[in-house]
Amino acid sequence: MADTSVFARRLIDWQRLNGRHGLPWQVKDPYAVWLSEIMLQQTQVATVLDYYPRFLERFPNVRALADAPQDEVLALWAGLGYYSRARNLHKAAQQVVNEFGGKFPQTRQELEKLCGVGRSTAAAIAAFAFDRRETILDGNVKRVLCRLYVQDGNPQDRKFEQQLWQLAESLMPSANSDMPAYTQGLMDLGATVCRRSNPLCGKCPMADMCGAKQQNRIGELPRKKTAVEVQNLPLYWLVVRNGNGAVWLEKRPAKGIWGGLYCVPCFGSLQEMYDYAGQSGIGWDEMEECEAFTHRLTHRLLWVTPFETRSDKMAEGADGIWAEQGEWQAYGLPKPLAKYLQAVCKSA
Ligand code: ADE
Repeated sequence: MADTSVFARRLIDWQRLNGRHGLPWQVKDPYAVWLSEIMLQQTQVATVLDYYPRFLERFPNVRALADAPQDEVLALWAGLGYYSRARNLHKAAQQVVNEFGGKFPQTRQELEKLCGVGRSTAAAIAAFAFDRRETILDGNVKRVLCRLYVQDGNPQDRKFEQQLWQLAESLMPSANSDMPAYTQGLMDLGATVCRRSNPLCGKCPMADMCGAKQQNRIGELPRKKTAVEVQNLPLYWLVVRNGNGAVWLEKRPAKGIWGGLYCVPCFGSLQEMYDYAGQSGIGWDEMEECEAFTHRLTHRLLWVTPFETRSDKMAEGADGIWAEQGEWQAYGLPKPLAKYLQAVCKSA
């Protein structure tokens, strides 16, 4: 069994020499740390490095974010996916302003009150920004612990998860000042060495005390989650252009796919699309069916069939607007729509 007392010391020393340094969110400003942790929840570092500076430049502090219109927040988020993160981010900024007087709370428990901040994210902010002794436990850290300490429970089991939290808590260093390097070390070890496939055990500072390695069980730990089935979802897009080449966009409902983003009118069945078009004075024989394509979301495979049509009849109102090519980016379109419109423009 791996020795718990040396784990923290070794991890901190390893992080200082071999971990990731110079990342733009390795700062003490809780706002900057929080923003990075939300972005990094489901997005890779390389992608976040692209979005993060633009976001911070436009919203340099929590008040600027809280005061912004939601559309602008979503537009800067467009392409990062999981848009509930952006909506929660905006709400959480308003919580910080309205409920905490504009100052970020410093304890893990209070941070957890913010929309979109779960226990592990709260712990990361508390450790990085405030040197708190709180442990993270994200997917990467679970993998490290399951291997090192030969934990072969089912990761979807709540009791087992509780056990992992307890183990993670028992491993923390005793000095508060070590918490940032320790926390970054946990993340770095999971992301760069103890990888899901092809782990680099030769580079691991814990290799000589790794239970899974000793028992030749690296490949089977952590136990695989039971696969969730991918749902096929047909979607029909009505791509309406006016005489100027502008595209008709509507704000999507807050809940569901691409919640809150602007998109062309989007339907689950042909009938719904025809009904909608009819109400806008567009006959079914005025639409051109285009080549269908697929787009994968986490648990869904979208089968999108675009229908193109020309019309000047759409009525601009609260949730619908004509957007010319130069404006599309500012509206924050779903990724497959941005790609589609770009391709259409290129071939036109
Ligand atoms: N993933 C989640 N948080 C991170 C961080 N602070 N640095 C690198 N990757 C991360």
